[in-house]
Amino acid sequence: MEEQKKQHRLLLMPSPLQGHITPLLHLAQILFSKGFSITILHTLYNSPDPTSYPQFSFHAIPDGLSESETATLDSVNLTRLINIRCLHPLKEYLLSLLSDSLQSVPCFISDAALHFTQSVCDEFKLPRLVLRTGGASSFLVFASFPLLRQKGYLPVQESRLEEPVVDFPPLKVKDLPMYQSNDPETFYKLVCRFVEECKASSGVIWNTFEELESSALTKLRQDFSIPIYPIGPFHKGLLTGSAASASLLTPDKSCMSWLDRQEHSSVVYVSFGSIASISEDEFLEIAWGLSNSQQPFLWVIRPGLIRDSEWLEALPSGFLENLGERGYFVKWAPQEQVLSHPAVGAFWTHNGWNSTLESICEGVPMICMPCFADQKVNAKFASSVWKVGVQLENKLERGEVERTIKKVMVGDGAKEIRENALNLKEKASACLREGGSSHCFLDSLVSDILSVAS
Ligand code: UDX
Repeated sequence: MEEQKKQHRLLLMPSPLQGHITPLLHLAQILFSKGFSITILHTLYNSPDPTSYPQFSFHAIPDGLSESETATLDSVNLTRLINIRCLHPLKEYLLSLLSDSLQSVPCFISDAALHFTQSVCDEFKLPRLVLRTGGASSFLVFASFPLLRQKGYLPVQESRLEEPVVDFPPLKVKDLPMYQSNDPETFYKLVCRFVEECKASSGVIWNTFEELESSALTKLRQDFSIPIYPIGPFHKGLLTGSAASASLLTPDKSCMSWLDRQEHSSVVYVSFGSIASISEDEFLEIAWGLSNSQQPFLWVIRPGLIRDSEWLEALPSGFLENLGERGYFVKWAPQEQVLSHPAVGAFWTHNGWNSTLESICEGVPMICMPCFADQKVNAKFASSVWKVGVQLENKLERGEVERTIKKVMVGDGAKEIRENALNLKEKASACLREGGSSHCFLDSLVSDILSVAS
């Protein structure tokens, strides 16, 4: 059986954003550990580091993106261009690979955002599996965009933000996955397109688990007539490796010894992921809120996080001196390691799906501050469905920040949130064990791939 699988080469193509590259490389590691050979096809923009994965082959698909495009375009517009410009280069690559290859190529696995790969795979009669790196609950909302538009919920209107979205309890209009850009139509079209091409695929692999999103997964199985494989959380299902090796930035590990010096469950870890940005005013309100809360904190200030600011220069003089050892700043953290450190008591997150799952896996309560897209749905689920966090609902203002931190760390409801988080952590771990849901779905995925190959 293992020998049989080694003859099979799987082609995997990530969308070139950190939150997408990491789960795809993790999936590749999982499938490699099941005996498949792996080739990662990647754009030149944000190309992964092949030296971290000597067991894989890497092949660049020219994306035609200029430096000024990658410097100025947002992720939606970059994705739109990649879907256009990678089409011919991918066809050329497959043409030569499939005519020469001594190994069988049973399927192509692409990120859902790379919808162009469906038509290419159809042309080569190559089954395409989709990796959806976000959650199933948010995907269900994406899949209903035309309906939400028809019912007048989209485009989102300021005057209706507090209205419930009838078909999607407990979501309100403000929780709908919108993208802050001058061009909401491009986002709408991209979403509709990637949902359509998921439906046309041979199956969708999800970095989630059945017990976490059972109602969304059940509904997706009814609406989509293709197999659905929830086999996450990927990073916990790996036999070797960690997120750090999939990182585009180098993590500053000095924060780990700072964490060692902090009390158990006392630290607020603050990170808003790889894309979101905040204004200088917002930065200052967060900084004052954290400082006034009296809790120690570790804050990731990624280059580009604060608009028009490089690092901490906007802080008033004396701020850092007053803070002393109680605050620690890094440009990029070894996030999984940080979340698993016993000193961490809460994660103030933007609720990107990877961060949300990583927090769940370590049983860390969340302070939810979603910025855009699926993050809003994830935050609502974390705070109102799984009840493992509190959402920063009102204006981003220092008093509100301080109150919210206290609510999660020491308030009346803090114990319940912590217990819920620990229960969910246990479920996240149980699903990966022999007989657990993700373990079983992974077995079906492997056998479905092999049945196509034979
Ligand atoms: C993007 C989208 O914004 C989000 O909506 C979608 O769900 C995934 O892609 P991103 O900002 O990249 O999200 O956040 P997230 O999904 O949380 O991924 C960030 C990754 O970077 C995580 O795996 C996290 O562990 C890692 N990270 C983050 C670090 O390793 N170090 C850090 O300092 C910060």
